Amino acid sequence: MSSTTATDSTPVPKAPNIYLLAAHPHWRDSRVNRLLVRAARGVGSVEVNDLYDSYPDYAIDVEAEQAKLARADLIVLMHPIHWYSMPPLQKLWLDEVLSYGWAYGTGGTALAGKDLWLVATTGGPEESYHPQSYNRYFFDAFLPPYEQTSVLCGMRFLPPLILHGARSATDDEIHSHVQTFTERLGSFPNWPEIDELGDCPTCVVPPTDRPRDDEDAAAMSREFGKILSRGTAAMSGAAESA
Ligand SMILES: Cc1cc2nc3c(=O)[nH]c(=O)nc-3n(C[C@H](O)[C@H](O)[C@H](O)COP(=O)(O)O)c2cc1C
Repeated sequence: MSSTTATDSTPVPKAPNIYLLAAHPHWRDSRVNRLLVRAARGVGSVEVNDLYDSYPDYAIDVEAEQAKLARADLIVLMHPIHWYSMPPLQKLWLDEVLSYGWAYGTGGTALAGKDLWLVATTGGPEESYHPQSYNRYFFDAFLPPYEQTSVLCGMRFLPPLILHGARSATDDEIHSHVQTFTERLGSFPNWPEIDELGDCPTCVVPPTDRPRDDEDAAAMSREFGKILSRGTAAMSGAAESA
């Protein structure tokens, strides 16, 4: 009979590191995300970052965020859907933390091989996300920006967990949703559908398409300053000779 002891050569799989970013601008008004965050805090392998609590002044610590991401196997974006997208601080976090040469582009491989999971809620019920209803599109139509952001950074985009109609859901529905979410967090990466996902496609961003770096931006700003001061001098010269 075989048993798993400290002397066995079979490696014991290490517990996954999960980094969960929770972005809710008004926790006091939250019915669902509040419960999801509370549940996540109870799962051992999860580090929760409440973005609006960490960065009330929107001054994101990019280095600290990148260090946390580098350690993570799974990155969870959790938020209410606002204007068919994410709350502004979550968007700013993406803008600043997922930088060229780190997260994507030449040398940008820090996130390659990780997984990204969107956990979101909508006010509109599922049937409102339909061509014949007021949200006009199936909800999937709003997912490509999330999916392509993951893929550009070499991450697999896991099937999102969405609770529609969060404002009108019954307590039982919310309870069952929180339970599903907690089970998922606890059982990652052993989700049946992960095996069916296949590898993440590779997206190469050529150096010609790289964003302007800080040095370019500083040079631009110096040039702009010169143009402005020339303009001001010319205007005051014109005023003097008038
Ligand atoms: C500024 C703002 C924009 C919103 N935009 C949408 C939207 O585009 N689609 C939608 O279904 N619900 C929208 N909602 C409703 C929220 O998604 C809903 O209140 C939230 O998911 C409920 O989760 P909570 O109980 O954790 O706050 C919006 C709410 C706010 C405050």
